[in-house]
Amino acid sequence: MSTVGIFYGSDSSNTQSICEKVAKELGDGAKLFDVAKASKDDITGFINLILATPTYGAGDLQDDWDSFLSTLSEEDFAGKTIALIGVGDQDTYADTFCDGVSYLYEKVQQAKIIGRTENKGYDFDESRALVDGKLVGLLLDEDNQSDLTDQRISKWVAEIKGQFA
Ligand SMILES: Cc1cc2nc3c(=O)[nH]c(=O)nc-3n(C[C@H](O)[C@H](O)[C@H](O)COP(=O)(O)O)c2cc1C
Repeated sequence: MSTVGIFYGSDSSNTQSICEKVAKELGDGAKLFDVAKASKDDITGFINLILATPTYGAGDLQDDWDSFLSTLSEEDFAGKTIALIGVGDQDTYADTFCDGVSYLYEKVQQAKIIGRTENKGYDFDESRALVDGKLVGLLLDEDNQSDLTDQRISKWVAEIKGQFA
């Protein structure tokens, strides 16, 4: 497996801590980047990527991701293997739970997307991250279900690990 580049945005460090745990589970083959400080060259060099974002506003992509994503084209992701992580709050934002990650999903359609998950164990009304009956990646909720985060990460990383190029 080639190195996995894990790119995250995080205002209040939940997504950052999640990505540090994911990197630990992946072992030596992972490198972490905060998109607030990353460049286009940082991301295009990886064949394998994990992209992680929380949701802000009313279902918006996190600001640093918004700026960073505008420097990248859909073609920049072609041929890569990509897994996505969305972080949100399904109780307070039940109509826009983890919507932010859907904008990453839409941008990386030319990649091989791995790590989609079942919509089980959550309690929300609507999410743009639910596409054709499946979630576009791993969804985590530090505000209401932080007790489930570690086990969700371990299970998900075990599933995707063998699928990277
Ligand atoms: C102003 C504000 C708006 C938010 N809007 C949403 C939302 O629309 N959907 C959602 O799922 N979570 C929403 N959240 C919850 C955050 O995504 C959640 O707390 C997340 O864990 C923050 O991650 P971070 O610490 O990495 O920035 C919002 C939080 C704040 C403070």
